[in-house]
Amino acid sequence: MGKILVTGGAGFIGSHTCVELLERGKEIVVVDNFVNSTPKALEAVREITGREFEFYECDLRDRAGVERIFCENEISAAIHFAGLKAVGESVQKPRLYYDNNLGSTLGLLEAMERHGVKKLIFSSSATVYGEKNAAPYREEMETGGTTNPYGTTKWMIERMLADECAADPAWGVVLLRYFNPIGAHPSGLLREDPNGIPNNLMPYIVRVAQGKLPYLNVFGGDYPTPDGTGVRDYIHVCDLAAGHGKALDWLETHRGVEAFNLGTGKGSSVLEVLHAYERASGREVPYRVAPRRAGDLAVSYADCSKAQKLLGWRAQFSLDDMCRDTFHAG
Ligand code: NAD
Ligand code: UD1
Repeated sequence: MGKILVTGGAGFIGSHTCVELLERGKEIVVVDNFVNSTPKALEAVREITGREFEFYECDLRDRAGVERIFCENEISAAIHFAGLKAVGESVQKPRLYYDNNLGSTLGLLEAMERHGVKKLIFSSSATVYGEKNAAPYREEMETGGTTNPYGTTKWMIERMLADECAADPAWGVVLLRYFNPIGAHPSGLLREDPNGIPNNLMPYIVRVAQGKLPYLNVFGGDYPTPDGTGVRDYIHVCDLAAGHGKALDWLETHRGVEAFNLGTGKGSSVLEVLHAYERASGREVPYRVAPRRAGDLAVSYADCSKAQKLLGWRAQFSLDDMCRDTFHAG
């Protein structure tokens, strides 16, 4: 059994997945260029697990650098987290997103092919369901109709990987479509810590509760939802990490491409999340209802029955657990 290559392993979801893999007794190799992370997360992974692993600071578009990783390690599968993920930035700088997200995937695939490594798990997103489908999203729904370059890179990479599997039946690829990952490792040592003013709901709520921002702008109070605010499927990042472990098991015995939703199957509104965080933190989170944000959907949540049936995976943690662990991580 070779090592698992974790690209983007210093990032939010990648670092939590490294913990999961090490705790399952796997050997890992991590590669990251720290464009959106720091070495601190990797130190925390070592501290939580008490285990060592190889790390390479390298951009996945650097063909020679990636080749070196494959030459120096016996790799049996890759989990590909590396990518840029800020929706707004992708609208401003589309080429950066196409170049980084597609280029890093191509660089990785070429090296894998050269070294006969044909098992891959890809970090996809619920965003591939686009605007035309209605929740709950099921894997067999037609994807596409993405509303921003970030989402389009995810859709394009899914297609690219499906084409690869069609061309060479030796490949096994799992597309994991994440819903809204929040929370943190219960040790409090790992967290999501975006630079600048956060775009996503949970990090914004945290800053408001800490008094670093005055109030939350609730984007839209007139959606056709029970309280008028947007509904999303929030999932604990540790549940997500566990899903990667199950997907690796799946690849032991399966070839071809398979997509799985990773969510809880339950939608929560912006105000439900805000109140859950208030309960967890014991702090008030002031808010104002603001206009809708362009490109936002009213409701998004997963049908998770496929992952449950085929991978034997389902989310364990509640919204209150997610808020407690987010608060604990500071
Ligand atoms: P993150 O930014 O915390 O982690 C991504 C990591 O990849 C970072 O450490 C970054 O430095 C690294 N990276 C980026 N480009 C690289 C390159 N060219 N070479 C090497 N390293 C590179 O993001 P995350 O939230 O952990 O997300 C991980 C993956 O999951 C991403 O592909 C993201 O698009 C996807 N995803 C995230 C969410 C979410 O809400 N967080 C939802 C759906 C999908
Ligand atoms: C967004 C992206 C999605 C990406 C995901 C994870 C868009 C349109 N979608 O999803 O492609 O995969 O992040 O990075 O950007 N909200 C507020 N106030 C805030 C922030 C958010 O009310 O300050 C609301 C939003 O309107 C939404 C919910 O909170 O209803 C969740 O927002 P967010 O955390 O940004 O996630 P998504 O929009 O679901």
